[in-house]
Amino acid sequence: MKTLPFKTLSLTFSWNELISHPQTNISLMGKILVIGAGGQLGTELTKALADKHGNNAVIATDFQASVKSKFDYCSFQTLNVMDKVALDLIVTKEGVSQIYHLAAILSALGEKNPVQAWDLNMGGLLNVLEVAREHKIDKVFWPSSIAVFGPNSDKDHTPQKSFKDPNTVYGISKLAGEHWCEYYYNKYGVDVRSIRYPGLIGYKSLAGGGTTDYAVDIYHKAVNGEKFTCFLSAQTYLPMMYMDDAIHATLQLMDAPKENIKVRTSYNISGMSFSPDEIYQSLLPYFPNFEIEYQPDFRQQIADSWPRSIDDSCAKADWKWQPKYDLKSMTETIVDNLPKYFNYNLNK
Ligand SMILES: NC(=O)c1ccc[n+]([C@@H]2O[C@H](COP(=O)([O-])OP(=O)(O)OC[C@H]3O[C@@H](n4cnc5c(N)ncnc54)[C@H](O)[C@@H]3O)[C@@H](O)[C@H]2O)c1
Repeated sequence: MKTLPFKTLSLTFSWNELISHPQTNISLMGKILVIGAGGQLGTELTKALADKHGNNAVIATDFQASVKSKFDYCSFQTLNVMDKVALDLIVTKEGVSQIYHLAAILSALGEKNPVQAWDLNMGGLLNVLEVAREHKIDKVFWPSSIAVFGPNSDKDHTPQKSFKDPNTVYGISKLAGEHWCEYYYNKYGVDVRSIRYPGLIGYKSLAGGGTTDYAVDIYHKAVNGEKFTCFLSAQTYLPMMYMDDAIHATLQLMDAPKENIKVRTSYNISGMSFSPDEIYQSLLPYFPNFEIEYQPDFRQQIADSWPRSIDDSCAKADWKWQPKYDLKSMTETIVDNLPKYFNYNLNK
């Protein structure tokens, strides 16, 4: 019978033992560390990982101690990903076998603090990749972004390998990060997997400093009966995705057999594309008096440099990616759930 030695425990287990207790297997095989868990993506991805692998299998971490209250279902530790010694310690002490590294400074905030954004986005990733190499971590997930594309990339159905000339520090850091991931895979065999997310839209947390954030904020204004001031112009089309699709894609990519992962930089994935006017129109059936005005700011220039839509045929072919939500079903779901989730008083 085949036995597996596990580095975090001085015991060995047979395949049969492992297969017969799927929920406990993950703890025998190591824990899942989520870095930057308190943000827009992490809040939902951490819960999805806990639902899939068990609450005890997941350790949520963030450098903001204040987000601890989001994680009453799993363990939480404060961690600054720039502190490699602390990262090393958690990985060793907890027997971590998978890392989801989400901490970053996003596009709009990055333009206000370019050097800080570069330091965190690159320094954090390199710490994670080094720890993964040193500790022989099984799998790493690191998100990239459509921000890797730039003004001279194809605008429509942008191919996986389209020319890339990002002109934000965020996009530059994501493009460099993609190549670091590929480098660690080729040189050291670190199984790091990545997705170029479009703008992510969910109702469970507020957006964290990106150029597509208007599409999160607009729902809050609509359900509260307030006028919305949009920082992009009415006809600015951008690739977007409902959070459930993004979570599903992430779990699917991480579950895929290693040999199916043919792109080791980062995969294009596509959900939907719409403009501020179209998302506004999608809200009118629910809120006929909802008003919008347009006051484009510095984020317009960022948006104009990005694709309008994305070709995701590689992800579809390699790991069977398929989105579920379009603008209509996303708006319906958010309008239904957001007021309850945030406890908004709709009769005020
Ligand atoms: N939200 C989107 O639309 C979108 C689109 C494309 C890619 N992404 C990528 O997904 C990832 C998560 O994005 P998000 O929207 O959840 O971002 P966010 O800003 O909402 O969350 C980031 C989290 O990281 C934490 N953090 C910041 N610095 C840290 C540090 N030094 N150590 C540990 N934690 C730290 C923050 O406290 C925050 O909780 C990022 O890598 C981002 O580039 C997001």
